[in-house]
Amino acid sequence: MIYDEIGTGYALGRRTDPRWMKAIVAALGDARSIVDVGAGTGSYEPAGRTVLAVEPSGEMIRQRPHGAAPAVRAVAEALPIGDNTFDAALAVLTVHHWTDWRRGLAELRRTAPRRVVLAYDTQLHAEFWFVREYVPEIADLELGRPSAPDIANELGADSVTPLPLPWDFTDGVFPAYWRRPAAYLDPRVRRSCSALAQTDPDAVERGVRRLREDLETGRWHDNHRDLLELGHWDAGFRLICSGAC
Ligand SMILES: C[S@@+](CC[C@H](N)C(=O)[O-])C[C@H]1O[C@@H](n2cnc3c(N)ncnc32)[C@H](O)[C@@H]1O
Repeated sequence: MIYDEIGTGYALGRRTDPRWMKAIVAALGDARSIVDVGAGTGSYEPAGRTVLAVEPSGEMIRQRPHGAAPAVRAVAEALPIGDNTFDAALAVLTVHHWTDWRRGLAELRRTAPRRVVLAYDTQLHAEFWFVREYVPEIADLELGRPSAPDIANELGADSVTPLPLPWDFTDGVFPAYWRRPAAYLDPRVRRSCSALAQTDPDAVERGVRRLREDLETGRWHDNHRDLLELGHWDAGFRLICSGAC
């Protein structure tokens, strides 16, 4: 299980962003019971509902905070849950890790009448400046992953809502630091992004070295003046809702 290796320290770099939490809670609507699939540390599990977390990595379960919802160790592709057991199924930034993502989505449909999935457009991630200018090898990984439009299509989505990244986003997803480039020089930041942790370390090292030089010479800032004026930027994150939304 890959997250038993790359998930160490996840809870430090990946902190719930209240703006995404608000959007997810709105999409869950009046669902009283929720199964959170690929739950990790439970960053977007709403309070005041009955939640069951499903997570295959023991390391991720170990980092769930004290008092978090109970977790069962299982994969999305074979949920140990009966048909229509929950009001809603939630899957946040996990579908791209599933070995058989279509089967996992079929499991979400089987177990809950409402499905809320947060995924990203892999094409837009591959066009992120860090990928395009510094570590183009990441594009191969991203473009091999299921993209938000494919996931929306497979789920028969009722709504797809873009979730732009605020400049001061608190959840360290890969493009979170789009306006704070020096953050990528920090190995702890890089460790909590699977796209960086799963790319050839030599390629990442080379790219980070060049980024460091461009920050020192001011070249990065010269090339990205347009970004520095933005408060939000669309990195491709999409909130997908299907069934009773
Ligand atoms: C980027 S983390 C997201 C965790 C959490 N949903 C969040 O938003 O913080 C991806 C999670 O998907 C889990 N995962 C990987 N393969 C999975 C599978 N086949 N079924 C369910 N979860 C899986 C990983 O173990 C990891 O916890």
